[in-house]
Amino acid sequence: MPQIIFLPHEELCPEGAAIEAKTGETVLDVALKNGISIPHACEKSCACTTCHIVIREGFDSLEESDELEDDMLDKAWGLEAESRLGCQAIISDEDLVVEIPKYNLNIVNEDH
Ligand code: FES
Repeated sequence: MPQIIFLPHEELCPEGAAIEAKTGETVLDVALKNGISIPHACEKSCACTTCHIVIREGFDSLEESDELEDDMLDKAWGLEAESRLGCQAIISDEDLVVEIPKYNLNIVNEDH
């Protein structure tokens, strides 16, 4: 089973986490099931950017993002070449290292 490592995030998982996942699950679902509350404002329908994550290792093992996901990602805070939407990133059989960006647009909007 692939192992998903979440790097520490100040609020969502201060210690980081290493979680056994199943092929075919999304990174967001694995996080949520394990108490890492990555925001998902549009309920996983690829219509927001709150579930933005960055895949630090294993990016190429994921199925490629489609156009809709890329369009949404363009609006994400802190976009990187290895950014994905957590609800659209389907785990294959390889391990991943995932970083949850410090901010997402929801938080930015609330704070400023
Ligand atoms: S939860 Fe909105 S795009 Fe993933």
